Amino acid sequence: MKKICVIGLGYIGLPTASVFARAGYDVLGVDVNQKVVDSLNEGKVTIEEVDLPELVQEVVAKGKLKASLQPEKSDVFIISVPTPIHADHSANVDYVAEATKGILPYLEKGNVVIVESTIPPRTMDDLVAPIIEEAGFDPYKDIYIAHCPERVLPGRILIELIENTRIVGGITPEAAKKAGDVYRAVITGDVIETEAVTAEMSKLMENTFRDVNIALANELAKISARLGVNAHDVIELANKHPRVNIHLPGPGVGGHCLAVDPYFIIEKAREESPLIAESRRINNSMPHFVIEQIKRLTCELDKPSVAVCGLTYKGNIDDVRESPAIEIAEMLLADERLDVRIHDPHIHEDQVNFPLHSLEEAANGANLLVVLVDHNEFKQFDEAMLLEKMATPVIFDTRNCTKIEDERFTVYRIGDLKHLQAIQ
Ligand SMILES: NC(=O)c1ccc[n+]([C@@H]2O[C@H](COP(=O)([O-])OP(=O)(O)OC[C@H]3O[C@@H](n4cnc5c(N)ncnc54)[C@H](O)[C@@H]3O)[C@@H](O)[C@H]2O)c1
Repeated sequence: MKKICVIGLGYIGLPTASVFARAGYDVLGVDVNQKVVDSLNEGKVTIEEVDLPELVQEVVAKGKLKASLQPEKSDVFIISVPTPIHADHSANVDYVAEATKGILPYLEKGNVVIVESTIPPRTMDDLVAPIIEEAGFDPYKDIYIAHCPERVLPGRILIELIENTRIVGGITPEAAKKAGDVYRAVITGDVIETEAVTAEMSKLMENTFRDVNIALANELAKISARLGVNAHDVIELANKHPRVNIHLPGPGVGGHCLAVDPYFIIEKAREESPLIAESRRINNSMPHFVIEQIKRLTCELDKPSVAVCGLTYKGNIDDVRESPAIEIAEMLLADERLDVRIHDPHIHEDQVNFPLHSLEEAANGANLLVVLVDHNEFKQFDEAMLLEKMATPVIFDTRNCTKIEDERFTVYRIGDLKHLQAIQ
């Protein structure tokens, strides 16, 4: 039975380690964060993901999953550390470099080294392989080195880890085969072998495709506000065409994937990627667009009170990385003209730099309630409570997710701001 070492126990590494442990492998999870290591050894999780607490408890109790600050000798090393961007949008691959260096003392000929972190094109060949070569190995013969990008959806990670098609890009065909076999043993989805750089680019293009298409929808929302058109009606009708699928506009694009990965391509081929770069700019402009609409909605009030609902980068998760909602909340809080109270049922106070409120507290006396995230809790509000608490029952829904029945509410939506034009 194989021993697997998973480096980085976050949203990807911990579910991956747990799934291999459930399949009967001896798994050592490694993290630089002592808190993550300690809680895992107690059978507890530090992230929110459906069914993960039960699975972790089970595999830790059986002794199949353990955690440590240091790696150990293993047959397979899976690296799933962060790959954020620097302030200038260049890729930060330092964590991948550090994690690779960290396994060198434990590496032996014949081991498989897989990077699951999302990485810029050529990182496996130009960064990971040379680090392993410096330790005295022939990276093309002694060690099987591959990139296997992750494409799981938060909230469905444990299902998708098993069912999704996996792309396994080896720096040699043998490496792709060996790494592919690691996944074939536990997953039911297809495993497709390719070259490392093709796997790197395919992951980046998946997210870039989505980012560019969301930018198109956001541009449509802005055009619709200018022309007095309902973008949602436009999208619904256009999508009746059998080969058209216009995405949904929103308050911006967040998370560490869609809002980050396109920059990895731009950095490596700047002149050839103007469409990708412009899409990033359009999506980055959406928080300001939201702020502009909030200003228009409250311009006639002295000290307007605004209730902000939602901080995560998408619905029903607890992840605030690169979240446009955080950017919007911080801009609103910095505006002394406004009295702002913020509510997110999925977020703890230690994740943000400002106080959080219950929905009732946030709505109390509010002139405007702004929905920034499509959490299930915001799809069907307690309308009677809002009518009782709010000073004026006005909602600005930037996700087009809220169903409001009572006609006493006025509801504005991104993409449908034509009535707002009358306020100007
Ligand atoms: N979360 C997702 O839905 C998702 C989806 C697809 C791809 N990815 C990619 O997977 C990678 C990991 O993402 P994540 O969301 O799991 O990140 P995360 O921040 O949740 O977890 C990363 C973990 O790695 C640890 N770490 C950092 N450096 C380390 C080192 N040298 N040794 C050991 N541990 C180290 C951190 O302490 C942290 O616990 C990223 O490249 C990300 O882009 C994530």
